[in-house]
Amino acid sequence: MSTDKDLLPVDPHNEPGHLPIADIPHTPRVTDTDPKAARRAERQVASMFLLSMVFVVLFVVAFVTIDKSAVVYIPVLGVVGASQIALGFTFGMAILLIGTGAIQWAKKLMPDVEVVQERHSMASTPKEDEEAKADYERGKEESGFARYTIIRRTLIGALALFPIPLVIMLRDLWQTPPGENPVELLSTTAWRDGLRIVPDTGETTGEFVKGIRPEDIPVGGLVSALPIDIMEIQKAEHNLNARGKAAIILVRMDPSEIRSQQGEGWDYQGILAYSKICTHVGCPIALYEHRTHHLLCPCHQSTFDLADSGDVIFGPAARRMPQLPIGVDEEGFLVAKSDFQQPVGPSFWERG
Ligand code: FES
Repeated sequence: MSTDKDLLPVDPHNEPGHLPIADIPHTPRVTDTDPKAARRAERQVASMFLLSMVFVVLFVVAFVTIDKSAVVYIPVLGVVGASQIALGFTFGMAILLIGTGAIQWAKKLMPDVEVVQERHSMASTPKEDEEAKADYERGKEESGFARYTIIRRTLIGALALFPIPLVIMLRDLWQTPPGENPVELLSTTAWRDGLRIVPDTGETTGEFVKGIRPEDIPVGGLVSALPIDIMEIQKAEHNLNARGKAAIILVRMDPSEIRSQQGEGWDYQGILAYSKICTHVGCPIALYEHRTHHLLCPCHQSTFDLADSGDVIFGPAARRMPQLPIGVDEEGFLVAKSDFQQPVGPSFWERG
């Protein structure tokens, strides 16, 4: 560990030959010998800090005055938001100028003396070197890495190709499939009139139970659910999105506590069905506080009031949770009365 004493500046002229750095002749900077150059450097640094302040003021002006929906055309970038460009440029310049000024200050005006910090030797002893080599050779031999040529080569090939799926998946994050409209994609789900609602048991093969009866859900309870034919749809269409888009939660409350719904009579005896996918960026939600009827998204804390049409009462979500109209069939099982009446899932498409 270094001490203050270790960091004391060493004047090479006073302690010649004391440490290796003392052998390097000290070359004074222009600003050390020329007072005019020093004052010029001082003005340069001060100008950068001043300019930085100006850019902060411009940032505030741009934030207040530029319409958030205004766009500009910039070669190479294309059409971009005027506000984002102005804010990014002014804030970036403010930071850059502080950094550049600080570097200039340190290089030209701060005391220019060599500082020596003594360190203990970090080198291993010859004995430790030998032991490490022996360990490496033993590991190589025991793993068979050198002996099994085919395994070694295929492993190297597999590791070399391993990043490709990651790149492809990342590419998928910001692209809608060609020719498809995100609003249309999210506006149609597997739900339709008369389709039975079944509990989501996490099964991806096999069969669901027959359905859910209203009496299966106590007041204050929550059940994650799906359409009964979702597995056939997935198999037929090879479409995993169908399951995500159709996922719902059923909650039950005293009918007198329901303040509003997205449609007349969309509940069944106080049982309400909402999409399970957050309208912010699409996390699945099932954190329900039955006394307040609030549904809390664990990702960014958006909170929806399920007793009041699923409205957003807190957080970054911009749209309420889509509600699914429900009833019962002739056998007394809960069913959907139609598809959702608005797109489910994240609302990134609204920004377009
Ligand atoms: S995904 Fe729900 S709040 Fe962000």
